[in-house]
Amino acid sequence: MLVETSRPIILTGDRTTGPLHLGHYAGSLRNRVALQRTHRQFVLLADAQALTDNMDDPDKVRRNVLEVALDYLAVGIDPAETTICVQSALPALSELTQLYLNFVTVARLERNPTIKDEIQARGFERDIPAGFLCYPVAQAADITAFKATVVPVGLDQGPMIEQTNEIVRRVNRQAGRDLLPEAKALIPATGRLPGADGKAKMSKSLGDAIPLSATPDEIRDLVNRMYTDPNHLRASDPGAVKGNVVFLYLDAFDPDRDSVEELKERYRRGGLGDVALKRHLEDVLQQLLKPIRERRAAVAKDLGYVLDMLRSGTSKARAITQATLDEVRDGLGLFSFDRTACKRSVAPD
Ligand code: TRP
Repeated sequence: MLVETSRPIILTGDRTTGPLHLGHYAGSLRNRVALQRTHRQFVLLADAQALTDNMDDPDKVRRNVLEVALDYLAVGIDPAETTICVQSALPALSELTQLYLNFVTVARLERNPTIKDEIQARGFERDIPAGFLCYPVAQAADITAFKATVVPVGLDQGPMIEQTNEIVRRVNRQAGRDLLPEAKALIPATGRLPGADGKAKMSKSLGDAIPLSATPDEIRDLVNRMYTDPNHLRASDPGAVKGNVVFLYLDAFDPDRDSVEELKERYRRGGLGDVALKRHLEDVLQQLLKPIRERRAAVAKDLGYVLDMLRSGTSKARAITQATLDEVRDGLGLFSFDRTACKRSVAPD
């Protein structure tokens, strides 16, 4: 048997604001399934982070904890290999966040490019919830509490890992030793998948995402609505592949690379119509999503099993995150009743 500690540690997670979609699959889920046997993997149902911009709808956040857990099991994240846990049930994460906040300036948070984009997208302007502005710090707590060195995420999460590593270096400097490891983002080569309209990234809120639990009809409908090349009017016309959403999806999901290259050639030359092209993408997606949808429906019948799995994952994670918190408290020299930290300031009797 592999010695547990010899495997590199992965930590990643998802906000529980809605069911996961194909963008999550290409961006991170696929990597997690592939890596779970060679890594020690932890996955967070990030309900506390979801609240940072959904405090007006905590019901939605709570309901989606189970929905996202079902998505995980459906894509093949295996609880025997991966520890799945609920973020808000891990108090050590909040305590670490509180300590880390002292190593970060507000100006640095405001400069975080992802936060900047998200503030704009949500229209917060100057009314930014403090919890939202600070969520990169909470994310640093998530990552370091598990001592993760690998974080499989989508492209937009790169700045979060950068900020995590800044915090890690500051904590280590203050502690005078390498208490926490730095982490690396694992970002897939396919980059960011746009929504069907080709404009923004695929997003739960924009209604143009293909959820992993989509029905065959929904899949067909979303593929039909996909943006192609507006100047490609007849099948015989030459068409543009660049910026064509259908080809971006084929690049991300068609396992037959040679056939994708051939289709691109034909499309550029003229002679491949949008309808035929879309039927091909639809086939690819129907094949990908059918087993996922079926597994999801099967697991959803046994919510008791899902809850037990979450309970045991969360309790394992609680012990690990608490141990890291103890080390950080000790490293930073906080008062402690049962450690030597208080010795220094106490006069000898
Ligand atoms: N911010 C991530 C997202 O929006 C979710 C997340 C929370 C996460 N904690 C994390 C990702 C820790 C990686 C590591 O998808």
